[in-house]
Amino acid sequence: MEILQNSSYPTEQVAFAERVNQLLKDKLDHRPKACVVTYGCQQNVSDSERLKGMLCLCGYEMTEQTDEADLILSNTCAVRGHAEDRVYGNVGALKHLKRRNPNLIIGVCGCMAQQQIVVDRFKKSFRYVDMVFGTQVQHRLPEMIYRVLQGEHVYETSLPNDSIVEDVPVRRDGEVKGWLPIMNGCNNFCTYCIVPYVRGRERSREPEAVLQEAREMIAAGYKEIMLLGQNVNSYGKGEAHGVNFAKLLRQINAIEGDFRIRFMTSHPKDCTTEVLDAMRDCEKVAKHLHLPFQSGSDRILKQMNRHYDRAGYLNLIKEARERMPQLAITSDIIVGFPGETYEDFCETLSLVRSVEFTSLFTFIYSPREGTPAARMDDPVSRAEKGKWFNELLKTQEAVTSKTLQAAVGSTQRVLVEGCADTSGFLVGHTDGNLSVEFAADESLLNQLCTVKITSYDGILRGEYISK
Ligand code: 5AD
Ligand code: SF4
Repeated sequence: MEILQNSSYPTEQVAFAERVNQLLKDKLDHRPKACVVTYGCQQNVSDSERLKGMLCLCGYEMTEQTDEADLILSNTCAVRGHAEDRVYGNVGALKHLKRRNPNLIIGVCGCMAQQQIVVDRFKKSFRYVDMVFGTQVQHRLPEMIYRVLQGEHVYETSLPNDSIVEDVPVRRDGEVKGWLPIMNGCNNFCTYCIVPYVRGRERSREPEAVLQEAREMIAAGYKEIMLLGQNVNSYGKGEAHGVNFAKLLRQINAIEGDFRIRFMTSHPKDCTTEVLDAMRDCEKVAKHLHLPFQSGSDRILKQMNRHYDRAGYLNLIKEARERMPQLAITSDIIVGFPGETYEDFCETLSLVRSVEFTSLFTFIYSPREGTPAARMDDPVSRAEKGKWFNELLKTQEAVTSKTLQAAVGSTQRVLVEGCADTSGFLVGHTDGNLSVEFAADESLLNQLCTVKITSYDGILRGEYISK
């Protein structure tokens, strides 16, 4: 892993990486290996690619196996309690590896590491964890490893809200689909959500930095670029350069090459008709909108601090479909927000039926300490919420098979990602992220092509049309 000339990645970190290289050479009799374990959302997967880039700069080679690693880093998620419990369990299970290999370095980073109660718990009960650091200081990983090699326990959990450090080395997991973070943090403070507390204030990258990274990815052969941010629709807000998300989409679309652009996540309150127009006009932008609505009840939306109502959301869907009749729409929903009644929940169900989402990400509300919702009255039992949740899944199942059936007869752009189980058949994803199988030559692997959807029998099947 090399740092490019005129990179703005801090030179002191490059120097720390060189020292780490040397220290590891002196200490170990083999090439050091590192394993990064990632929990949670795409933002974390993308952050992990940069953590891996810095580890490579420090001389590590990457492994998926914790038991052969000299450094294990868990990049954690705090969005729901269940994800946190898994981290405690899995990091707990690393203790025996440390006993066997005292040179092993164990680190915990990401959203969990940004919460004081979590850090205190690691300090007290997980003494064998050598470094705990938060989301905004992760570009200083070489320095933190250096300090651990000097015998220090490192706890770096400040949230300085500085601008995003550019040119952090990146080691991408895939060669065809790649993540491109365009911003970090969130200013929305939805009352249930921990993200604004653990990722800090919203900060956008400079448009030129985003465009440069996009150009590099396209030159390297990437066919799908996923633009990432907690709320991409507010990209560039308040910045002097005046490039908002709609303009950024148009600029990336103008880069030469055969590739597809995706983005997530959109907040309905900031999803303007200007963004929808840009989606419609840009031929490389997938006609897919992930637009979380969380609840169909106006009363609950208010309690959630979402700044839109049911009618506003439905109007946005109408505006989007008027511009893009084939648009695939997906969403996130929370079931069992504090004080939600069965009547409120039925409003969610009816919205699901009327919009006809391609697919849904559904969650049972999980109280997060420090958020306003965690202090609200929550009289409905977990068992009852579980019943509602199952009812929602059943409702969406029927909608999903209806939307898949409706895709039959349409012509779609498909990114070919692999061979299907049946020989001679390939499998790929449409703009709307639907999986489709069709007969074609393997030379199409990792390419975009046009496919006509011909049938649905639990799997969408199609016919190859052209490149
Ligand atoms: N409980 C359950 N789901 C949550 N989400 C965010 N916070 C919580 C929580 N406390 C869900 C929202 C968000 C998605 C990424 O995770 O639906 O859109
Ligand atoms: Fe959380 Fe709301 Fe920000 Fe999404 S927009 S990260 S749900 S606070």
